[in-house]
Amino acid sequence: MVNLNNKQPIGLFDSGIGGTSIWKEVHKLLPNENTIYLSDSKNAPYGEKPVEEILKLSIKNTEILLNKGCKLIIVACNTATTNAINYLRKNYDVPFIGIEPAIKPAALYSKTGAVGILATKGTLSSKLFEKTSSEFAKNIVTIEQDGEGLVPLIEDGKLNSSETNELLLKYLSPMLQHNLDHLVLGCTHYPYLIPQIKKIVGENVTIIDSGAAVAKQTKSILKKHHLLSNNFTTSKHQFYTNGSLEVLQNILSDVTDPILIEKLDF
Ligand code: DGL
Repeated sequence: MVNLNNKQPIGLFDSGIGGTSIWKEVHKLLPNENTIYLSDSKNAPYGEKPVEEILKLSIKNTEILLNKGCKLIIVACNTATTNAINYLRKNYDVPFIGIEPAIKPAALYSKTGAVGILATKGTLSSKLFEKTSSEFAKNIVTIEQDGEGLVPLIEDGKLNSSETNELLLKYLSPMLQHNLDHLVLGCTHYPYLIPQIKKIVGENVTIIDSGAAVAKQTKSILKKHHLLSNNFTTSKHQFYTNGSLEVLQNILSDVTDPILIEKLDF
């Protein structure tokens, strides 16, 4: 890794506001790190786009974050990770952390042997997802569901709307016929729907999302490269969106530390 130092910020990007669920976990575990978050809401949803387009957008976001001096990039989007992270790792000289549907722990802990995965079409159809599933889910039944339409509703700020709840019911009810005991959230937007999802799936289904695991992995990779921040004064957090400022502000309204949220044309 050339010319990286621990004072540089961590960069994160997502197709929109969903990756803030990852940012919150990262900030909780690594409060001394400066961060820059890119919300590419203008191009959401990525999950419905062809692989080449997802790759192009991931490259664009990566280059913006590198130009802003990031020492490590978190691809805070399952769709971008599963379709683009191999390319990014090969072509850019900073560490990348990705997020994939957490099939492994779900398969490990499942007692009924049936696990549900709610993710985007782009993630479910990716080669990386296929590889992970065939490796870790060979002894269980997986019920995959494309959450088409959920990301645009979340991007519109309609977290608890009747439209969102109806769509969740439509997707989750058939999955429940399979006696699943774990539901993997394979999209960083979906943790914002956990209260509504819980109401539908009930207490016997454990919901798994990978935010905390991503934060732990980020810490361990920073440590390995001697890039952990030793800045014990207030850390700086910059959020950029090319979509609605208000929706991003709302999703971050539970953050108590000072953060800057700005519009950026990218
Ligand atoms: N947050 C993205 C993910 O984790 C959403 C993808 C999309 O924009 O469709 O997959």
